[in-house]
Amino acid sequence: MTTNSGSTLPQSIDATLKLLKTGGYVGDRALATVLFLALKLGRPLFLEGEAGVGKTEIAKVLAATLGRKLIRLQCYEGLDVSSAVYEWNYAGQMMAIRLAEAESADVGIDRKRIEEDVFSERFLVKRPLLLALEPDVAGVPVLLIDELDRTDEAFEAYLLELLSDFQVTVPELGLIKASHPPIVIITSNRTREIHDALKRRCLYHWLDYPSAERELAIVRAKAPGIGKRLASELVAFVQAIRKEDLFKVPGVAETLDWASALAELDAVALDPTEVSDTLGVLLKYQDDIAKVQGGRVAELIQEARAAARST
Ligand SMILES: Nc1ncnc2c1ncn2[C@@H]1O[C@H](COP(=O)(O)OP(=O)(O)OP(=O)(O)O)[C@@H](O)[C@H]1O
Ligand SMILES: [Mg+2]
Repeated sequence: MTTNSGSTLPQSIDATLKLLKTGGYVGDRALATVLFLALKLGRPLFLEGEAGVGKTEIAKVLAATLGRKLIRLQCYEGLDVSSAVYEWNYAGQMMAIRLAEAESADVGIDRKRIEEDVFSERFLVKRPLLLALEPDVAGVPVLLIDELDRTDEAFEAYLLELLSDFQVTVPELGLIKASHPPIVIITSNRTREIHDALKRRCLYHWLDYPSAERELAIVRAKAPGIGKRLASELVAFVQAIRKEDLFKVPGVAETLDWASALAELDAVALDPTEVSDTLGVLLKYQDDIAKVQGGRVAELIQEARAAARST
């Protein structure tokens, strides 16, 4: 039987760092430490941070590098038990009832048997939270509960219960309990605060925008085709633009998109016109674009060049 403490899990912080690296994820020691502990202690990891800083990616990389199944629950407003846990296949049940009625026209209906039949696992549609409780030959799965801040508090309360016992009661079937809890990663963009009770069940880590050095390493890992000079200049530019007073500063996702866009345009270094024309890859609000377009772009490029030279 595979367990949560199986030999495939990293046995040290260094091994965790290495695991992330294998998956193309450039993490720092603080992240590796909390991840290592979450795996070791079998506790959910609660990752909070700005948009596009690599929260979701951690769960994906973890599942890929550990060779586990990734089960993803994308949260949204109005998410309910039938989408998150299970629901009955009504159409299938109706069909089964009709067939049973037709078959038993002569002998009379055996109500109890039909009821047992339609409320069996055959007609149970399992959703992510229930699927995550099932054993898997590859070891316990990675359950990603993504963007929890988008759900309402009622769902959060339900989740709290699930994360305490890793069990679900389906009234018609009884209790379904995980023999070994899944590896749980919860993410939030902090559009609202998540309740303390839920956070208490988890280990917490705030993912910030990366330092220039780490962001350069991410660009190198994810966009290996682009030149050294362009890479350091564009990273320095993004680092500088994050200090501007903008409505929404770019995340790592935007940095990578911009790197691909500039590479596509055969850029070897930052050029004011090219930067101005591609600002829409980095900034997604017209007010933000208007703010930096023109003179400010030129200044930011100067700053970026100076910073890139000094690294
Ligand atoms: N440290 C990192 N190492 C490697 N790639 C990274 C890193 N951080 C971010 N990325 C890349 O940036 C992109 C965005 O990451 P991801 O989707 O995980 O961000 P997120 O924090 O979940 O964003 P959102 O809040 O928008 O959901 C992905 O393509 C991911 O590969
Ligand atoms: Mg995400």
